[in-house]
Amino acid sequence: MSTVSERNSPQPAVTVIGLGEMGFTLAGAFLDGGHPTTVWNRTPRKADALVARGAERSATVRDAVAASPLVVVSVKGNATARAILESSGDALSGRSVLNLTDGTSAEARAVAEWVTDRGAQYLHGQIMTIAPGIGGAETVIFYGGSDAVFDRFESTLRLIGGRGTLISADAGVPALYGMAVHGTMWGALNGFLHSAALLSSEGIEVKRFLDDAGPSVAALVASFPMIADEVDRGEYATRYGALQHHRPSVEDLVRESEARNIDAGFPGYTLGLVTKALEDGHADDSYSRVIEYFRKQ
Ligand SMILES: NC(=O)c1ccc[n+]([C@@H]2O[C@H](COP(=O)([O-])OP(=O)(O)OC[C@H]3O[C@@H](n4cnc5c(N)ncnc54)[C@H](OP(=O)(O)O)[C@@H]3O)[C@@H](O)[C@H]2O)c1
Repeated sequence: MSTVSERNSPQPAVTVIGLGEMGFTLAGAFLDGGHPTTVWNRTPRKADALVARGAERSATVRDAVAASPLVVVSVKGNATARAILESSGDALSGRSVLNLTDGTSAEARAVAEWVTDRGAQYLHGQIMTIAPGIGGAETVIFYGGSDAVFDRFESTLRLIGGRGTLISADAGVPALYGMAVHGTMWGALNGFLHSAALLSSEGIEVKRFLDDAGPSVAALVASFPMIADEVDRGEYATRYGALQHHRPSVEDLVRESEARNIDAGFPGYTLGLVTKALEDGHADDSYSRVIEYFRKQ
């Protein structure tokens, strides 16, 4: 399929639907990369600056979709993404849709199924940066869905993230990867900030703590592959601290927090998990055993 603008350019034409903070930045990256770029946004004036840089503004979603072989969607929520694509009618058939809208894995799969039922190919992308990081050589984007779309537009995708990887044929997996990164991040951030509250209650600068204790903190992340291996195998051998040795330390952390009027809810939650595992007879297992207590029975 070739469009008018595609015939005049060595780069394939790209349509960007949704010009919020992210979509606007994506469209700018495609323009800078020499792609004829068509844009549509519910609020048309948000396209003005892109039009000034050479983008085409479409009055309708249908025209925007018809303008390019690659249709990129970046809006708030996958229900909105689908509703917008629905308004393109049969123009979607034969196109490649790259949906960069965040949501759950099931929501991504539902859009994928709906799009492919209409004769288009589908790729979902989970962007692992904020808008200013778009186009960075180290910017990670997890892709899932059609390998044909990924292969055909790989050089276009590199324009928005140098570390874009097709991780699955399943369009739902990128969302899960993104959540796994964010879940790890929030767990680590909350642990660090709780500890920072403890340290600063003593008047200790947190930066100084990091200078002194940095290797111990780094060793934690270095232990992830070993934990991952245990979880994948479902075997919690004691190659590092047995669960029974964790409990006294967590109890100390709870008591220290309470004594300093620091919220003890975060370590208290950990104490609850460890206690349940010990009550079930897992005293000699490694800490990885705790995963069983996140899984609802
Ligand atoms: N911003 C970031 O740094 C960042 C980072 C990673 C991932 N993301 C993801 O990128 C996606 C877009 O985020 P954003 O930051 O660009 O959001 P945003 O700045 O809030 O923009 C939202 C976009 O969605 C459109 N929209 C919302 N409801 C709509 C509706 N009912 N019908 C039609 N259009 C509608 C808005 O159109 P109007 O302009 O007309 O309101 C706008 O184009 C989200 O999934 C977000 O999680 C963003």
